[in-house]
Amino acid sequence: MNLTIPDNAPFTNNQRMWLKGFLDGITSTILAPPLVPSSSVPTAGYPLTIAWGSQTGTCETLAKKAAKSLAANGHIPTVLNMQLISAEILTTTQRLLIITSTYGDGEPPDNAAALHAVLHSADAPQLPSLHYSVLALGDSSYPDFCKCGRDFDERLAALGASRSAPYIECDVDYDSPFAEWITAVGAFLAPA
Ligand SMILES: Cc1cc2nc3c(=O)[nH]c(=O)nc-3n(C[C@H](O)[C@H](O)[C@H](O)COP(=O)(O)O)c2cc1C
Repeated sequence: MNLTIPDNAPFTNNQRMWLKGFLDGITSTILAPPLVPSSSVPTAGYPLTIAWGSQTGTCETLAKKAAKSLAANGHIPTVLNMQLISAEILTTTQRLLIITSTYGDGEPPDNAAALHAVLHSADAPQLPSLHYSVLALGDSSYPDFCKCGRDFDERLAALGASRSAPYIECDVDYDSPFAEWITAVGAFLAPA
């Protein structure tokens, strides 16, 4: 923004010079944006739920790690045991991340079984407002590799939810796919 003195303003040359200096000072100190390094400006953050399904703790640990990483980027994650999530809650959830393992012969871990069942039932609600991404943990020595994670990923899409970052499967070495997934999730998080 520029503050200027109209040509026909009734000032002498001296008065005009003084006034110009005064107005330039206002422009540069009061109206100019503060000089803050861009790295210290907080990014806009989004609230999101990170739900974990786990039998022996690995996915719970990764959910907490994901929350820490996203919070460091200004987002507002809530980590939840999948047992505490109902299909009804999902109808009003906008951003959901699922991290789950597979147990038995391609079955959900115990704490993910109820949500898995209700979402796969005929009564499952449509979820058009939900944006989600699934990270599946498993072990490729089992025939139904990562089946539970894949079930959630495919079923949420079938119920009208949108995949906000790609579905990723992890074998026993999960560090690098986890890092890839959390980077993708951070990049895709957007207003719902
Ligand atoms: C008894 C048992 C059954 C398993 N069944 C499968 C399976 O069917 N498919 C699969 O991909 N992984 C299977 N796994 C591997 C787990 O999903 C994997 O170790 C995972 O990282 C465990 O994560 P968690 O500690 O969060 O439960 C099985 C592991 C055990 C011990």
